[in-house]
Amino acid sequence: MKISGYFQAILLASISMAYGAILTSSEDIYFCNRQIETGVDDAVVGDPHYEMKEIQLDPVSVEEENLIVLMHESYRAQVQSTNMMKLRYHAGIAEKAQALADSCVFSHDTAQNRSVAELPGVYVGQNICKGHSSWAACIDNWAIEKNNFALGIGSTNGGVIGHYTQMMLWKVMAIGCGFNTCGGSRLYVCNYAYGQFSSDVKIPWRNGNQCADCPNTCTVDGFCDCGGIFCDSEYKVMAPTCECKMWWII
Ligand SMILES: *[C@@H]1O[C@H](CO)[C@@H](O)[C@H](O)[C@H]1NC(C)=O
Repeated sequence: MKISGYFQAILLASISMAYGAILTSSEDIYFCNRQIETGVDDAVVGDPHYEMKEIQLDPVSVEEENLIVLMHESYRAQVQSTNMMKLRYHAGIAEKAQALADSCVFSHDTAQNRSVAELPGVYVGQNICKGHSSWAACIDNWAIEKNNFALGIGSTNGGVIGHYTQMMLWKVMAIGCGFNTCGGSRLYVCNYAYGQFSSDVKIPWRNGNQCADCPNTCTVDGFCDCGGIFCDSEYKVMAPTCECKMWWII
């Protein structure tokens, strides 16, 4: 397929921007492979434009990043919570999620795989799904576990709740996701900071008036907002008041 010189120039500029580095030939080949792999998934056979339509410079587009944050915030706003924190997309944990998606292994990697230097001591959690047609379908599939969940009890019927409770954990302030098509099936990975401990699962948020724990940092949407800052210690957690506190006395 012939790509015009003008388009090619834009394409190369965008690719090198995405990596923040000068494009080398090996990166070029890497992207070609990814492009063809994602292209084949949805290809209309014989359509000369399909490669052009399926070009994916960034495995998770900025629009998808925004959708991922908005959908999580929408679920987080559906409950009455005193301490639900505002979410931000985080490029560092997204890069780790992308590494798992690129490995095409449909199982969780380790906490060590997910940890990032920018968030020292922060335990990062993870949700994955496979085979769904879109980010929206994947996220809704995690969230539907709310039918198995009651605050203070955990699972009411033995059903899975862990994806939902990770989405709903009050102290999550950062999310970053990765995507790839593996053997014709779509693999979606989201990493969360903070990750949930088993002690968080029954009570992922505190029930009560929105922002009751953060009268000074409440957003218009009713989230506590400390500006995305994390504590520099594995024993401390950012409280809704934006003080670093020992995690067991929050
Ligand atoms: C996770 O870490 C292990 C050990 O360092 C490494 O072999 C593996 O490739 C990593 N997985 C991913 C998805 O980065």
